[in-house]
Amino acid sequence: MAALRSLLPCVPGLLRPRHGCAALRTFAAGAKFEYIITEKKGKAHNVGLIQLNRPKALNALCKGLITELSQALQAFEEDRAVGAIVLTGGEKVFAAGADIKEMQALTFQECSFTQFLRQLDQLSQVKKPIIAAVNGYAFGGGCELALMCDIVYAGEKAQFAQPEILLGTIPGAGGTQRLTRAVGKSLAMEMVLTGDRISAQDAKQAGLVSKVFPVETLLEEAIRCAEKIASNSKLITAMAKEAVNAAFEMTLTEGNKLERKIFYSTFATEDQKEGMAAFVEKRKASFQDQ
Ligand code: HXC
Repeated sequence: MAALRSLLPCVPGLLRPRHGCAALRTFAAGAKFEYIITEKKGKAHNVGLIQLNRPKALNALCKGLITELSQALQAFEEDRAVGAIVLTGGEKVFAAGADIKEMQALTFQECSFTQFLRQLDQLSQVKKPIIAAVNGYAFGGGCELALMCDIVYAGEKAQFAQPEILLGTIPGAGGTQRLTRAVGKSLAMEMVLTGDRISAQDAKQAGLVSKVFPVETLLEEAIRCAEKIASNSKLITAMAKEAVNAAFEMTLTEGNKLERKIFYSTFATEDQKEGMAAFVEKRKASFQDQ
């Protein structure tokens, strides 16, 4: 293991302790949260499902919800059985944004000193793939949360918007950055400067969403995709995710260099040996995440 770790300097934190903190692990599935519901899904119970569940406030992202989301993400990240995570809301709303009632009296000083809503960004640090299953409104911080996920599936009635401008503020969790990279400058500007909503179909056409499904089947489709991902090597999946994400942070030359390093690193794993042996022997690979 030490040898393998030394071969992977470009994949910081990839090789995590085998067993997560017990206290956190108890949060993973069926834990009693106030604002979210967590469960393990899939035939092999290898999909971590997080459902935002604050319906009276349209899943507005209050501090309590964000803290619970953070705890659930960390627990699934540490759970060796979980290979992918699905993040969803309700049928009417994914999330209507940051909690405006909690925010309205904040001062600039409080925002700065407390790094207000910084914790939300934790989602983008998770190494396991996260699929957003978006039904209904994904507005403001809700849209930004979806954009932090690796794959976005939408129900056909989903709507996406960055309406912060109408509140006298701007997006604060990637709405000007990830949205622009996802849909391009013109549409991002239009959304950020007008606050106008776009439909699931327009979001798909623009590249924010990869697939659109009927409202009722969205979640099962997202779980099916997560199961597919979770059946592959978790070790190699984390490497693949890191490589794709590098495309948003690096020049093409730097990104290709990193990709090559990670590609070479896969040859230090048992899962690469198993995957290629299985192909040659015409059988299904059995990955051990080693
Ligand atoms: C707090 C909210 C809320 C929000 C809705 N509610 N959105 N509370 N923060 N973001 C509450 C309402 O006050 C109301 O509570 C209840 O949820 C139902 O909302 P309604 O407006 O009555 O529902 P509806 O008429 O169906 O309209 C749905 C809606 C609208 C179009 C989504 O609620 C809306 O425009 N919400 C605000 C969307 C928004 O501007 N989001 C951006 C927030 S800023 P009561 O108690 O009155 O019944 C942001 C910045 C992110 O996200 C920065 C970094 C994270």
